[in-house]
Amino acid sequence: KKWFAVIGDPIEHSKSPFMHNTWFQEMGIDAAYIPIHVKRENLREAVAALKLLGASGWNVTIPHKEEIIQYLDELDPMAEKMGAVNTVVRQEDGTLKGYNTDGAGFVHALEEAVGKHKENKVLIIGAGGAGRGIAFALKEYGYKQVDIANRTVSKAESIIQELGSGTALSLEEAEKQLSQYGIVIQATSLGLSTGESGLPISLDGLQKEAIAADIVYNPLMTPFLLEAEKRGAKIVTGLGMFVHQGAIAFKHWLGQYPDTEEMMKRLMEQLK
Ligand code: ATR
Repeated sequence: KKWFAVIGDPIEHSKSPFMHNTWFQEMGIDAAYIPIHVKRENLREAVAALKLLGASGWNVTIPHKEEIIQYLDELDPMAEKMGAVNTVVRQEDGTLKGYNTDGAGFVHALEEAVGKHKENKVLIIGAGGAGRGIAFALKEYGYKQVDIANRTVSKAESIIQELGSGTALSLEEAEKQLSQYGIVIQATSLGLSTGESGLPISLDGLQKEAIAADIVYNPLMTPFLLEAEKRGAKIVTGLGMFVHQGAIAFKHWLGQYPDTEEMMKRLMEQLK
């Protein structure tokens, strides 16, 4: 029997075990996926244990996505660029390879929800790990005009420099220029809070036909999405990104892409 895991701290709220175990069951795969609570100071020993006990692969979540890299034998180019890994594959010869499926997961989810709009100007709000991953993935998938706004502008600037195109903006500049963007992505950690306005920028200038996406899926409708929906925008919740990052990891482990649409419905029921 194959087995997989997700390691993180905290880990008890993760929906990954439900998602992967459901896929195993529905696809007739004899495997199990378990959550393992691993504190920062125990990461090295946890990786050794996963290897010793024969895990076929695992997901990595907060706070280990960067730290894990030193324990891996090989990195996929996207994970290398990002300096962060969310998926580990134990290869035939026992070596460990790291991938980052978060950014590509976002793009798959966006395109599944609203189709491909590669000609649109994209604004990413947030220049942390999430914003960075999404920026690289969008570029790789052929979105040519990607700008990044951040409270700390220098962080947006350094991503834009690595991307080799686009503009870094302050939040104030992003507000003023918002009407230029066909796709606006909320990638700050602010969506998590339900207090205050919960918005990184005012959406006064948002186009009516715009697509508004958030990386947060709990709550499903963030303050950003609620406001964007009121203004007539098409909404993409963070749930799709979560499901597709898992689906891409699943494909790395088992070679098949699982059903994502049915999984979205099931998880939406749980998050209501
Ligand atoms: P993640 O890896 O999830 O992206 P992170 O690396 O901590 O998390 O990044 C958090 C992002 O949310 C950053 O873009 C951060 O802005 P700064 O780079 O200026 O810190 C943004 N963020 C967090 N709290 C915010 C707030 N109250 N207003 C605006 N942006 C905020």
